[in-house]
Amino acid sequence: MNSPALKSSNKYKTKLLIVDDNSNNRAALSYWLQEENYEILHANDGISALKITETFIPDIILLDYNLPGMDGVEVCQKIRSNPKLPFIPVIMTTSFAPEANIMALEQGADEFIIMPIMPSELKSRIKAMLRLKKAVSESTELIKENKKLQELDKIKSNFVSKVSHELKTPLQSILGYTDILKEGLQGELNYQQKLMIKQIRDAGDQLLNLITQLLDVEKIEKGELEISSEVFSIQTLFNYLSQVINPMAIKKQVTLNFVLEDKDIELMSDKNIVQRILLNIISNSIKFSKENTKIFISAKEAKDNCIEFKIIDDGKGISKSNIAYIFDKFWQEDDSITRNYGGVGIGLALVKKLVVLLGGQIFVDSKPNKGSTFRVLLSKELNNYLPVSMENLQVVV
Ligand SMILES: Nc1ncnc2c1ncn2[C@@H]1O[C@H](COP(=O)(O)OP(=O)(O)OP(=O)(O)O)[C@@H](O)[C@H]1O
Ligand SMILES: [Mg+2]
Repeated sequence: MNSPALKSSNKYKTKLLIVDDNSNNRAALSYWLQEENYEILHANDGISALKITETFIPDIILLDYNLPGMDGVEVCQKIRSNPKLPFIPVIMTTSFAPEANIMALEQGADEFIIMPIMPSELKSRIKAMLRLKKAVSESTELIKENKKLQELDKIKSNFVSKVSHELKTPLQSILGYTDILKEGLQGELNYQQKLMIKQIRDAGDQLLNLITQLLDVEKIEKGELEISSEVFSIQTLFNYLSQVINPMAIKKQVTLNFVLEDKDIELMSDKNIVQRILLNIISNSIKFSKENTKIFISAKEAKDNCIEFKIIDDGKGISKSNIAYIFDKFWQEDDSITRNYGGVGIGLALVKKLVVLLGGQIFVDSKPNKGSTFRVLLSKELNNYLPVSMENLQVVV
């Protein structure tokens, strides 16, 4: 084994290891590659090659197939199975013997070259392998980053769900005592006190709703949210929605128009889940609309035995590049602390999960400053999943 003199330079030099028992071959390969400005080390047998590889960590190895003692195939297998090493492309150098070439590739080599070889071909093949290495290490980095992000996401979710559990019990007791006071069970309240109690109750309800949404997302992720099925008319559903959400619309001076072409349409599904899907979408529409605007909420029968709900607002809309994120947990177009709108960005993440749970689809069409249309397609009978081959969720921009 001998090593060529290395010029000191700050620029990273690609490290190349040439393994060959024939010193003439090693010299020839080094000579042909000298213009490439590689940092080259030589090894004349398999054992030295493995030792050098552990410390030098080459970017690429030219490995003779016919080494004495430990042959090229064994060296290659040992390199591949060493968990401490990154992916290092191995080019096996062979004399013309087709079986040897196939064997080399099957045993973990990435490429083979038949000696003698034209210097230009040698250089091109090395460059191709270095491109492969770059692609592999980039994707390995991405996988690592992704894993880290997933772990962080898990920690965040655990934290959020623990805090939510801890908040829910005392909050329920605050709301319970508020109701006792509100109903005058501890003495009649004056007008001011009644107003204050109402405000406490409303704020408490908002907080409870947020906690419930957070806990439900977690439940769905763990597969613990149970679905039940009952028959109900869309008319009753719309009556309920209008009753629950109208106070919010009135406060914002927004008009809600419920449009139902056929009053007899019925759905056999999880009523509570359908209500929550629509309440979330409608409350977003109210939140992101200006005063004195209208929101249309409609339902009609659609093909494949489905019902199509449509919620149309002419509010602030969502930019094309952001639409892809709106169903992500905690994503908000404006997440600054000075933002004008409340919420934590959990509503649509829950909506998406609930729609998928019911085997439905959701579509979004939105333009900044023009408004948004959300379409939810649900099967009229739960368990009849929509006949889609792709994902259940589709976002249409
Ligand atoms: N109808 C809409 N018009 C404009 N933007 C919308 C609309 N619906 C959703 N968005 C955008 O998508 C983001 C995510 O919506 P999502 O319902 O998940 O969160 P949120 O409403 O901000 O908070 P939360 O639902 O927790 O109260 C919103 O913050 C907003 O930027
Ligand atoms: Mg929301």
